[in-house]
Amino acid sequence: MRTVTMREIVPPLPPIVHNQFAEVRELFNRFVVPSYGRFDLAFSHGAGHHVWDVSGKRYLDLGGGIAVCALGHANPEITETLIEQSRRLVHVSNLYYHEPQGRLAQRLVGHLAPGKIFFCNSGAEANEGLYKLARKFGHDEGRFEVLTAVNSFHGRTLAGIAATGQEKVKKGFEPAVPGFRHIPFNDLDAARDALSPATAAILIEGIQGEGGITPATPEYLLGLRELCDEQGVLLLVDGVQCGHFRSGRFQSFQRILEGIPGAESFLPDGLSMAKSLGGGFPIAAFWVREESMGVRLCDLLGAGSHGTTFGGTPLGCAVALKVLDVIERDRLADHVRTTGDFIKRRIAGLAEKYPSVVRSARGLGFMLGFELQDRDRIPGLSGSDKPASLQVVNRLHEAGILTIPSGNQIVRLLPALSLPRSLAEEGLGVIEDVVRSIA
Ligand SMILES: Cc1ncc(COP(=O)(O)O)c(C=O)c1O
Repeated sequence: MRTVTMREIVPPLPPIVHNQFAEVRELFNRFVVPSYGRFDLAFSHGAGHHVWDVSGKRYLDLGGGIAVCALGHANPEITETLIEQSRRLVHVSNLYYHEPQGRLAQRLVGHLAPGKIFFCNSGAEANEGLYKLARKFGHDEGRFEVLTAVNSFHGRTLAGIAATGQEKVKKGFEPAVPGFRHIPFNDLDAARDALSPATAAILIEGIQGEGGITPATPEYLLGLRELCDEQGVLLLVDGVQCGHFRSGRFQSFQRILEGIPGAESFLPDGLSMAKSLGGGFPIAAFWVREESMGVRLCDLLGAGSHGTTFGGTPLGCAVALKVLDVIERDRLADHVRTTGDFIKRRIAGLAEKYPSVVRSARGLGFMLGFELQDRDRIPGLSGSDKPASLQVVNRLHEAGILTIPSGNQIVRLLPALSLPRSLAEEGLGVIEDVVRSIA
């Protein structure tokens, strides 16, 4: 048999074509549904922590594809895994068993607690599974309602926008899917007051991401658990953005509750995962706790009750297993913790040095953000009517750094978990230059 060389399988990097941007944008304008607000940037390739646009300009990626590229770009171990697994088996229907799905489920359960995993394709879909779990759980008592937090984000499907606590995602898509109400985040009394005889579950993010990098407080997490146990309501956590070691622990609630008396046994009843799980390859999942409040939760979604064609393919699972291997082997959780603390301290330093621009540093691990002052108080930004966050992200693009805006005032840093401290320092230097230039 002829052996196929790597050269034949992996195409060489595309040549850098100059001034191709207008051409690429024109294709989008003509053929792609314009549902995204896009920056005027088109990328051609990436390597490690850098990506190159079609004009050949290099950017340090501190946005990580919005918390997706856990091991950076074109990671050779991911590439190898893709090649190897795709030679063996890319897809089989969920009518059958295969080893990678079982092994990945085992590894994810091992990072949490006894329970089971359902695999799917996106964060919104993982959360959909949690809503169905909640409805099934409450069904015989006529309970169906899920309480979610103001400023939360849970995805763009119809139930996702009903669950999301932000008006802007709902507008124009009424009538909303029934059964969702929003409660102020980190306010236990409000949660208690909002419970109704129809409530089946409370769903929160461990750290609100799209809402502006706001971690749940330990008191809130512990208080919600107690409240849910007392009222027979499920506690569900959306770990799509804040999960998969981004906080410095597998899940952000584990980091938030570290060292808190009485928190050792804290567990939600269900947890959604996506984004970093496949390091850029689309795969998502939700975990269901084995048992809660006397109910065997992990078997509630029985045969025929839920499914998806592409959920947990051999290819997706093999890649996700490799991402986990590398994170564990290279002790990236510890790295994220120490380097994340370092970055956060440096951002806090910027807030002290340039108080007219930076108000505060937010977040944990590699889920960080800096909060900007009101646009009209920032000398270098007040002349434009664009939100401050967007203007700063644009200036950072000019300076060769990718970051992610959140709302009008937050700039997020969600880099690969493997970002070395030296590149973090380089990026912080550029961020300081930009902040200084608008102060
Ligand atoms: C917390 C959270 N949940 C759900 C989602 C939706 O995930 P997806 O875009 O993969 O559907 C996101 C996406 O940003 C998210 O941040």
